[in-house]
Amino acid sequence: MSTRVRKAVFPVAGLGTRVLPATKAIPKEMLTVVDRPVLQHAVDEAREAGIEHFVFVTGRNKQVIEDHFDMSYELEDTLQKRGKLKEYQALMADLPAAGATSFTRQQAPLGLGHAVWCARDIIGDEPFAVILPDMITLPGQRRSRCIAQCLEAYEKHGGNIIAVEEVPPEETHMYGIVSVTRDFGHTFQIGGMVEKPPQGTAPSNLIISGRYVLEPQIFDILEKVEKGAGGEIQLTDGMKKLSETQPFFGVRFDGRTCDTGSKHGFLMANVHFALARDDMAPAFKAELKKIIGEL
Ligand code: UTP
Repeated sequence: MSTRVRKAVFPVAGLGTRVLPATKAIPKEMLTVVDRPVLQHAVDEAREAGIEHFVFVTGRNKQVIEDHFDMSYELEDTLQKRGKLKEYQALMADLPAAGATSFTRQQAPLGLGHAVWCARDIIGDEPFAVILPDMITLPGQRRSRCIAQCLEAYEKHGGNIIAVEEVPPEETHMYGIVSVTRDFGHTFQIGGMVEKPPQGTAPSNLIISGRYVLEPQIFDILEKVEKGAGGEIQLTDGMKKLSETQPFFGVRFDGRTCDTGSKHGFLMANVHFALARDDMAPAFKAELKKIIGEL
């Protein structure tokens, strides 16, 4: 039986250059999709899936992230005194349990593989989830979000798990790509993986989409892995090495993923997340229809 996955790593040390100037003074993970910071959506997904400890790999100018997951005494006191109990209770419900968050710094943005490696001492010797918070997800027919579907696959297959999605073949050069050896439908055994293959050389159109469950042996590998695509220490290169000794399974995520790290994806995330909210959807849908009619 596979060990229970209790901890998730959220790498949040990137510079967010694709959404400048928004990210000059505000971390891209704190930009809001509807009324919640992007990172809060990612933490919500992890909590729903039963993750108990949230490890944030931050960088300089990201202190506000730590504040967001702490109490805000003046605000909470004022909300209570003014009788805004609903707002107060909502803040309290979002607050992680005392001791359930850890923060470590990636001193320079050397790549995703390096960011994950920075969490090695906090994770220790147990399997863990990795959640790229700029990719945020909504449930599909399975009614669970992406990391919950990855954890389900981990319970079934063990090994290491990577969530994937399909993209048009002409876009594969922008992503990490996996190939399929044995296909079980919703899940499959991964044959190979490659980060940002040159155009026309990708082994499939299945992209690595920002959710992983990894065995702790990845840390020893990441310590030694050389710089890869884009001059960065790539998590994909580390996973490729680990796949020589451990099985990897892919999960075709049933649901929607929005890449808030790009301007287009950020706008689409706001539309999809607003449409998924019972309290907002009716009025928002009517407004959207009006806008479309005017186009
Ligand atoms: P991205 O490549 O999307 O983030 O990395 P970025 O570097 O901020 O993006 P752009 O291209 O400059 O706009 C995916 C995730 O990995 C984290 C990012 O914060 C993001 O959540 N990351 C990336 C790190 O934590 N450290 C790194 O060195 C690189």
